[in-house]
Amino acid sequence: MIEYIIDSNKHESLKKELNRIVNLEINKETIYLASDIIKRIVPDVRNIEEELFYGYGAVKIKSLPLGDYIPTPPQNGKKHPDKSNFTEFLSLGLTKAIGLNPFSYKQEKEGALIHEITPATGQGASVSSNGEIPFDFHSDGAYLRRPVRPHSLTLLCLVNDSVTSTEIVSLDRALGRLTKKEVDLLSKNLFIHRSPETFYVKNHNKSYSSIIDKVDGFYEVKAALHNTTATTEKSEQALNNFKQAVKEQSVSSNWVPGDLLIFNNLRTMHGRGSISGSRWLQCCYGSTVHESAAIIDLMKG
Ligand SMILES: [Fe+2]
Repeated sequence: MIEYIIDSNKHESLKKELNRIVNLEINKETIYLASDIIKRIVPDVRNIEEELFYGYGAVKIKSLPLGDYIPTPPQNGKKHPDKSNFTEFLSLGLTKAIGLNPFSYKQEKEGALIHEITPATGQGASVSSNGEIPFDFHSDGAYLRRPVRPHSLTLLCLVNDSVTSTEIVSLDRALGRLTKKEVDLLSKNLFIHRSPETFYVKNHNKSYSSIIDKVDGFYEVKAALHNTTATTEKSEQALNNFKQAVKEQSVSSNWVPGDLLIFNNLRTMHGRGSISGSRWLQCCYGSTVHESAAIIDLMKG
């Protein structure tokens, strides 16, 4: 996985330029403004796009500015009233600069474009982005149809006293460990995907499908390994071997505040270990299909 380090000149320029817009409301137009600032100051955005779509599938950017004031991590998923939109514009603008449109789901976190990822009180045993126990490898929105699913995720670290890393695996590397027969089985509609706990959907919570699909010459993945099950003995064996290959090929990415990880949600899977201590990431979805700042209603259509 490629890592970029923002040098001190770019760090200061980003801080100065983004500070000009941090009190504006977040919408399609202001996300464009943030994207333009980032494209001007971070000239590597084209390389990041290449790496995301045609390379490993994930890129880490280090030493980004976080604005003038970071409050204590939110406990209720809601933004602190004294916090500016600095980090929000950084994540949304970078996602847009790479050619992906930030969007959200009406049924998840009340349609917020930026998700506050903190271990929520009383959610310790939840296997989800809000829990504290290990979260097995998954791609987000695995149970949704491809156009509706997030095509990318952007994660920005604001606090990580718990030193909890995120694990990333490139699908190509994991599939390289499997036989052709196993890859064929994973490509068949022999698996059940279920919606995650963080989605409030009724009667739309299950789909029968494959785990991988070949699209435009590349394999893509849709699976949450704690939540995806096989329907036959042979497909179960293939799924177990896939799980093993994912573990073996994963790379660990540690966080310090100012680190950002952007990855292709169709060509990588991610997970993390258990959390003990303070941790705050902000996350936004990107899509090549939805409009920028769109709130998708999963109960429609
Ligand atoms: Fe996730």
